[in-house]
Amino acid sequence: MFPAMLRVSLVSLLWGCVLIAGQLHPLEPAQYQRLPPLRQRASIQNQWIADRISRIPSLLQKYGAQAWLICQREHAEDTIWWSVKNATDFDAHRRTVLLFHNNQSSLAGAPSPLKWIDNTGDVWPELLDILHQFNPSRIVLNSDEDIAFAGGLHSGELSVLRRELGQYWMARTVNIPMLAVEFVAKKVPGQLAYYQKMQENVWALLEEGFSDKVITPGVTTTEDLSWWFREKMQCLNVTTWNQPRISVITKDSFPGWSGSDDIIQEGDMLHIDFGITAMGLNTDTQHLAYVLTTNTSDPETDVPQGLKDGLKKSNRMQDIVLDNMKPGLSGNEVLRRSLDQMKQEGIQGQIYSHPIGDWGHDAGSVIGFLNLPDDVPVIGELPILQDTYYSIELYAYHFVPEWNETIRFMQEENVAWSDESQSWHYIRGRQEKFHIVFGDSKRGPVLLEQV
Ligand SMILES: *[C@@H]1O[C@H](CO)[C@@H](O)[C@H](O)[C@H]1NC(C)=O
Ligand SMILES: *[C@@H]1O[C@H](CO)[C@@H](O)[C@H](O)[C@H]1NC(C)=O
Ligand SMILES: *[C@@H]1O[C@H](CO)[C@@H](O)[C@H](O)[C@H]1NC(C)=O
Ligand SMILES: *[C@@H]1O[C@H](CO)[C@@H](O)[C@H](O)[C@H]1NC(C)=O
Ligand SMILES: *[C@@H]1O[C@H](CO)[C@@H](O)[C@H](O)[C@H]1NC(C)=O
Repeated sequence: MFPAMLRVSLVSLLWGCVLIAGQLHPLEPAQYQRLPPLRQRASIQNQWIADRISRIPSLLQKYGAQAWLICQREHAEDTIWWSVKNATDFDAHRRTVLLFHNNQSSLAGAPSPLKWIDNTGDVWPELLDILHQFNPSRIVLNSDEDIAFAGGLHSGELSVLRRELGQYWMARTVNIPMLAVEFVAKKVPGQLAYYQKMQENVWALLEEGFSDKVITPGVTTTEDLSWWFREKMQCLNVTTWNQPRISVITKDSFPGWSGSDDIIQEGDMLHIDFGITAMGLNTDTQHLAYVLTTNTSDPETDVPQGLKDGLKKSNRMQDIVLDNMKPGLSGNEVLRRSLDQMKQEGIQGQIYSHPIGDWGHDAGSVIGFLNLPDDVPVIGELPILQDTYYSIELYAYHFVPEWNETIRFMQEENVAWSDESQSWHYIRGRQEKFHIVFGDSKRGPVLLEQV
């Protein structure tokens, strides 16, 4: 796109959005936020990475190890690569070997990680020499069978290590999955301000996308709307890890990995699940919208009460999960306590919340899984960590009298741990009101070219 055109369209886009958003959320209309230019993003991200890497020596100490050895080849990177690489790096080069170490050793003063980029085999004698000087008794390898973040050592690399390091050093290798989990999951304070901007962009997209500026009932399809979101993300200079999936919600609809392809009609309840990616961070949000029925002698001016009550029930479930989400508890324990509380309050529904950050589905304990509603082996047994972000993902069942049906009210909002208040906070807020599409058939469809 030509810069001049983009400038003009951005001005009209921002202006249009403020107007529409003002109608929908009079208290706090979301405003599109500009992220810094790429060069500045890279230097900010590199500082975050440096801050996070500086925590590794104390993490090694916490988990009783002295070294963390990461071996990988270009295109067969360890999962950890994506959390330690510099912003302008892409794949690992050739064979990239990283040795993170604990400073309280003969290597004090040496950089951590020590880094080799090699395709001649020279790395091995040098690495052995370092290990002899340093003499670590426990060397972490990312060889976990269940946790991806701690299991990124490719099998070819493991064979090479067995051959090159030999029995003496291999006997000192250990699998300590929490080292990788905690390293990836924990955020540094500077990240939040930018994550907030991203979340505000998510809400601005939702407020504009679910409005009569973009949707013409009887004409626009859910697929059209998904593509509107994709185009608009491009204008905002963000990408996606979780493609927008938009569905018309009915009794049986339960959007999984794909949305529906329906013409949006008056009286529809709409659902979206999507996430944006920028600056090494990811978001994950699910909201609901309603298309007012105006095409009758008795036009609606508000969302049916039964739908509002359903959303309220999901909001209550969010409260319950956050109240129970005490750092140190396992995800499974949080799940058990939350399900008990729901039972006491007569709420039926399901919880499947997860960490978020470097990845849309980030390292750390999960609180339920869609197919494992009561207990999640291994990952659900990990502790909830402070200084992390979570995506509170769930649905309440609610009987909607107006429809004579029980409907799932799916919600997903992102929270961050606050050291100050020792509790979780919604990063932008949570949906307590439906996005409303005014079913005004006189309006023409908004063309994507106008975006
Ligand atoms: C990132 O860049 C710095 C400075 O150039 C360098 O010292 C460091 O090794 C790089 N990190 C990685 C993982 O390549
Ligand atoms: C490692 O040691 C060097 C030199 O003693 C020191 O400057 C650096 O801060 C140490 N790093 C950590 C994480 O302790
Ligand atoms: C309005 O109602 C008429 C008659 O029922 C129908 O043909 C038309 O598709 C409706 N328009 C919208 C936008 O729902
Ligand atoms: C997106 O990036 C382009 C190119 O750097 C820039 O001109 C434009 O202002 C950016 N748009 C937003 C919304 O940040
Ligand atoms: C509501 O649905 C139930 C079960 O599907 C049905 O038996 C009943 O007749 C319906 N009630 C009305 C008012 O349509």
